[in-house]
Amino acid sequence: MKKLTFGTPEKYVPSLFCQDFRYEEKSIKYPVDKISFRENARGCVLELPVEKEEHFFGLGLQLKGFDLTGRKYILRVNSDPIAETGDSHAPVPFFVSSKGYGIFIDTARYAEINFGKIYVKGAKQQLKTREIATSTEELYTLSELTDGSVITVQIPAAKGVDVYIMEGETVTDVVSQYNMLSGGGCNPPEWGLGTIYRCCTRYSQDRVLSTARYFKENRLPVSVIGLEPGWQTKTYSCSYVWNNELYPEPKEMVESLYADGYHVNLWEHVFTHPSSPIYKELLSYCGNYEVWNGLVPDFSFAEAKEIFARYHRENVTFGLIDGFKLDECDDSDYQRNWSFPLCSEFPSGMDGEQYHSLIGTLYMQTMLSVSGDTLSSVRNAGALGASYPFVLYSDLYDHRDFVRGLATAGFSGILWTPELRHAGSREELLRRLQTVVFSPQCLINAWYCEELPWLNYDCEDEVRELLCERVKLIPRLKKAFENYKKKGIPPVRAVVSDYTSDAETYGIDDEYLLGDDLLVAPIISGESRRSVYLPQGEWSDYWTGKPVQCGRFDVETEKIPVYVKNGR
Ligand code: GAL
Repeated sequence: MKKLTFGTPEKYVPSLFCQDFRYEEKSIKYPVDKISFRENARGCVLELPVEKEEHFFGLGLQLKGFDLTGRKYILRVNSDPIAETGDSHAPVPFFVSSKGYGIFIDTARYAEINFGKIYVKGAKQQLKTREIATSTEELYTLSELTDGSVITVQIPAAKGVDVYIMEGETVTDVVSQYNMLSGGGCNPPEWGLGTIYRCCTRYSQDRVLSTARYFKENRLPVSVIGLEPGWQTKTYSCSYVWNNELYPEPKEMVESLYADGYHVNLWEHVFTHPSSPIYKELLSYCGNYEVWNGLVPDFSFAEAKEIFARYHRENVTFGLIDGFKLDECDDSDYQRNWSFPLCSEFPSGMDGEQYHSLIGTLYMQTMLSVSGDTLSSVRNAGALGASYPFVLYSDLYDHRDFVRGLATAGFSGILWTPELRHAGSREELLRRLQTVVFSPQCLINAWYCEELPWLNYDCEDEVRELLCERVKLIPRLKKAFENYKKKGIPPVRAVVSDYTSDAETYGIDDEYLLGDDLLVAPIISGESRRSVYLPQGEWSDYWTGKPVQCGRFDVETEKIPVYVKNGR
């Protein structure tokens, strides 16, 4: 890996906040002399060489797209991406090439990255006349990379940047080095890999306890109970005070859940309500705009982190609660305008753009000092995030996009769950649950469902079977996370990640590798069959153990198609 410095980098960059940054210089083959750098009125620009037939992946959680080649992305934090533009709950300025290298751009800015732009060649060279197009599709199809194409990276406001280049044979090799740069992946406790059921936000203490009892009595293996906003007196913004109307004896409830073998996870966000006991103390550490009448604490100050964490330890957790759902730390979506603006000013000197890119990371750091060992949830993450035991989720709900999220997250040191909420039919419920079971976090987020989401559809036996399958998967997942921690190998990866020399995999965004030896090819709700591609190797069917030929074939099954790679 090699670090290159261009111009004068900014003070607030992701590596500044990385608690276990492990850069070790090694020589690389990458043609460093072909990188160009210049300052301009908008900040600074890097140009990086590309080769014909090169393909690029990464830039964080991508729900709408997969192969970055030829496209333009602006790494904007956004909770409601509607197209393949770079908007994401978790944009990450790191991408990896099919030619065996990866580039990490150490910036908290909303960089614009064009994967393949070409300079004006000058009048002497003849331009090819275009055919007359009759559709916008024809007009705007992606142009192929040609010799002389470059990647342009415009970084707003900054007058310089550090870039890290790493090389390896496969995408997995390269991404693993990126993950090791930040100290390696997380390795959550076994209970965190079990099923988490988030109760309806209106539930009372009795209803939570009876739901937990129901799971036990009906042999539904659930290991974490999540409470949604209703546990607090104020929620948008948050008071972080137990709501004694719904929860008259929260300590007794939490103790009883732990006595029954459950873990408990609490929903919250950072925006601090005026009635919160920590409001006054946080006032001197907050940004200059409110969100939902609440403060936006600047967690780059150790003091602000400590006020927030200490309060939680002393007043919220009863020494037991070991998980949090850190909500709303991304940014306003296309429909509403709730979060802080980019022009915000924070006492550290960061502006709103930088803080949007870093708030998820700083919030995770704060809450880890409360929860300890966990597998929790977060709605924003960023660069150098592999070691945080938090899984991203979304309010969006397109099943196909959710599967794509599983394939893309592993390029960038982040984890994603395709959570199950409500379903319009029994078939949809089971298809979604299948995907959730074969994912890093088995999350049923019933926050607005008065009843268990499957009760309407008379399929509790099938739900039980799937949740039991999850229990069987835990040792495999545990091993996968150990490799994540020690070697940086992501537990969930796109197929191209391990099979980088196979060009057939460059477009596969609806299958993914899970752990050492599984390839998962979910069937999307509403469909009963699909085409599967198994790369070169010996494979068998996960369910029957029978051998399966590699290559492309169709499957039709009520189960989720899963294949085991033999002899690894
Ligand atoms: C949303 C979150 C949901 C749920 C809800 C509660 O922002 O994505 O999962 O927690 O808040 O208000």
